Amino acid sequence: MQSITWKCPSNIALIKYWGKKGNQYPANPSLSFTLTNCHTITTLSFEPKEDDGTLLLSFSYDGAPMPTFEPKLEQFFNNTEHLFPFLTKYLIEINTTNTFPHSSGIASSASGMAALALCLCSMEMKIEKTLSTEDFFKKASNVARLGSGSASRSTLGPVVMWGKSDSFEESSDDYAIKVSNVHPIFNSYCDTILLVDQDKKEVSSSDGHALLKNNPFAQIRFQEAKANLELLNKALKEGNLIGFNNIVEQEAMMLHAMMMTSKPYFLLIKPNTLAIIQKVWEMRSILNLHMTITLDAGANVHLLYPENEKARVIAFINKELVQFCNSNFIHDHVGLGPIEMN
Ligand code: PMV
Repeated sequence: MQSITWKCPSNIALIKYWGKKGNQYPANPSLSFTLTNCHTITTLSFEPKEDDGTLLLSFSYDGAPMPTFEPKLEQFFNNTEHLFPFLTKYLIEINTTNTFPHSSGIASSASGMAALALCLCSMEMKIEKTLSTEDFFKKASNVARLGSGSASRSTLGPVVMWGKSDSFEESSDDYAIKVSNVHPIFNSYCDTILLVDQDKKEVSSSDGHALLKNNPFAQIRFQEAKANLELLNKALKEGNLIGFNNIVEQEAMMLHAMMMTSKPYFLLIKPNTLAIIQKVWEMRSILNLHMTITLDAGANVHLLYPENEKARVIAFINKELVQFCNSNFIHDHVGLGPIEMN
């Protein structure tokens, strides 16, 4: 058997993708930091079999079967099989592992689907050698998108955007691109994820995206996201930390406002989410720290801050915030993106 392994990080969206159109296309462009420590490692092994037109694959998570992942995988292969016509000529084994809890509000589908997409593109390279490096990453991002929209952004680093935007000439709804000329302060930005709630998500991403169809504020939200993308791009280039903080927090608030105003409505934050946000807002000017918060579609808080403030922010977390997350947190930071490990 031949095998391929990719280590692929998760990402945290600063401009949120929330709402789809067509076949997994975003209703608005999004932008994220690629992380480092929160990652998935996926190994794809394959050996030739008779091509009887059927896809034969086995999947394990941490070396054991994981039936709960199977429907999502099946859907992924139904959507992407046509892009890899050679797959039916091989017996395929996929083994995957995460460094962080899956389905807990940390984007494990982002790193998981991106790692799988990268493995499939590497398999194509081994067999057919037809992709240039640029095409390799475009295809991997496009394939990852078909598994989970945010996964399209995990195929690159450190700062990545996905979705057509007039401010980014090369941008596309099909795949993500790297954001260039970002001020160096953001290349080592830190993200401490405070795990307020590690239960399975209350609303799946797919259901959440679908709620935008009947949300009365959806069109305004999509326009605001586009405007915020332009403002954030400017702040990222200038190294404007105050501007960065304002836009990133507004995006998080708007994502949750969308959830609260959908039909049916959802409240995904918990009392401890609010307690953390209020403490950060109260203390950051007093301590003169550039901390900002963002949220995914769940209760966990991502605390973002520049590396040169790390020691002081960690002291603040240990003193003031651990009580709200039962001392469960993950220190992460912006990273360069996935690595092939063979
Ligand atoms: O990739 P999905 O379908 O799981 O959607 C991700 C949605 C958010 O995490 C809330 C925002 C984002 O852009 O990552």
